Amino acid sequence: MALGIVCIVRFIENQTVQNDMSLSTLPSPHYRRIADMLRMTLASGALRAGDRMISARKLAEREQVSLPTALEALRCLEAEGLIFARPRSGYFVRQADAVPSMQVDRQLSGPVPVAMSAVARSLFSSAETRLVPLGAALPDPEWLPTEALQRALLATGRRLDARGQSYSLPPGRADLRNKIASRAAQWGARFAADELVITAGATQALRLALRAVCQPGDAVAIEQPAYFGTLLLLEDLGLKALQIPTDPLEGLMLEPLAEAIQHHRPAAVLASPTVQNPLGASMPVARKQELVALLARAGIPLIEDDVYGDLAGEGQRPPACKAFDRSGNVIYCSSLSKTLAPGWRIGWIAAGRYHAQVLQARMAGEWAGAPLLEAAMSEVLSSGDYDRHLRRLKSRIAEGVKAVIARVEASFPPGSRVAMPAAGFLLWVELPQPINALEVHRRALALGIGVSPGPLFSPAAELQNYLRLNCANEPTPHLLNAVGQIGALCHELVRVG
Ligand SMILES: Cc1ncc(COP(=O)(O)O)c(C=O)c1O
Repeated sequence: MALGIVCIVRFIENQTVQNDMSLSTLPSPHYRRIADMLRMTLASGALRAGDRMISARKLAEREQVSLPTALEALRCLEAEGLIFARPRSGYFVRQADAVPSMQVDRQLSGPVPVAMSAVARSLFSSAETRLVPLGAALPDPEWLPTEALQRALLATGRRLDARGQSYSLPPGRADLRNKIASRAAQWGARFAADELVITAGATQALRLALRAVCQPGDAVAIEQPAYFGTLLLLEDLGLKALQIPTDPLEGLMLEPLAEAIQHHRPAAVLASPTVQNPLGASMPVARKQELVALLARAGIPLIEDDVYGDLAGEGQRPPACKAFDRSGNVIYCSSLSKTLAPGWRIGWIAAGRYHAQVLQARMAGEWAGAPLLEAAMSEVLSSGDYDRHLRRLKSRIAEGVKAVIARVEASFPPGSRVAMPAAGFLLWVELPQPINALEVHRRALALGIGVSPGPLFSPAAELQNYLRLNCANEPTPHLLNAVGQIGALCHELVRVG
């Protein structure tokens, strides 16, 4: 039964218009005429909310224009909020005022100490590897390019010979840093290889960033809800969390952030402006620019966590905030954990004007890297294997997300809401009261199913009626049946009250 589940739809960023890198590729002004015509069709009421728009290909044929021109026209309407894209399904009519939204708590509270590690610990310790993997934010290992990774390991192992077993010293191998810098240049980042430090995953990069710009007791502005790894880091470093309301469609909200800066002066802002965990939200490009400008004016560093960035966008990924950083105020952190090999622990940090502090902290702490893995990763990034893999991965993820959403719609109790991600593989689900997600988690574990309960994503283990589901798995009957079992559990918990 489809029972009143509310999906929040969201836009894919219209990066072409705002990203100055791609101005040269803008199609001819025909797109404006076509956009005007489509706008008039929508205004006439000929199409209703949810109706599918004409495809770009048909539009191009009908209007005798190129495919990029037709696409640009559709993207104009998308940027205006009139239509929205669904991965691999095309554009649909959006009726802005009829789209119910997940409640965003716009209430600003002050900085709070983080105390969620006990919840995290109990959840980590109960996690077993053979759970149905709806919990951890990881792509299905079968979806990773194992053969290409193994080939690169073998070839590099032979080439490096005994040196492969040595240490890689900070800032990490130059071949890998070059590759990362040149890939980042494609979306507009302007850091050179010698401004990068290779780290043990994004987690170490985030730790180094926080260490570089914060003192114990400081407040750090974070998204609400926030990735639990960020919360654990804050707790570990004795930092307070200043929660900023975050829109399920457009990410970190700038007005409350500006207010929070005025009243509480955080030492840093730590956010994922492209594909946020757990919401899947991405800030529109113009808002990213505003965020960078706001923080540069305030002299507050932005720690940008971009681990899901490569999963965004249809072709070229949208620019991260780092693309708009003119003053070195953005500390950019990322890794290959969500797309290639989480266990290889290859991450990096481009710390802008904090580079010296970060390098110093890297040398003073966990300084050694693995040359074999760094060199092999550099080879994979050079070979074209990564881009091929990314295209396939994104399309599999889109299928996985679609299938899980459909099953949630069919099996969760009325009043549940889903923040539908346009990119990434995480699904944030609001459950109707009085369901307690920790209880759902406990009962799901007993059935051999992993889920991530809402309290993991809040500094004081709140958000009790939210769940995060990982959709980066083959949507087999077994997996979808597990989603249905979670739905059944939720029904039971509503009845018990
Ligand atoms: C938002 C976010 N940042 C960072 C990480 C950690 O990345 P890594 O495995 O590269 O340390 C994760 C992992 O789930 C994440 O979701």
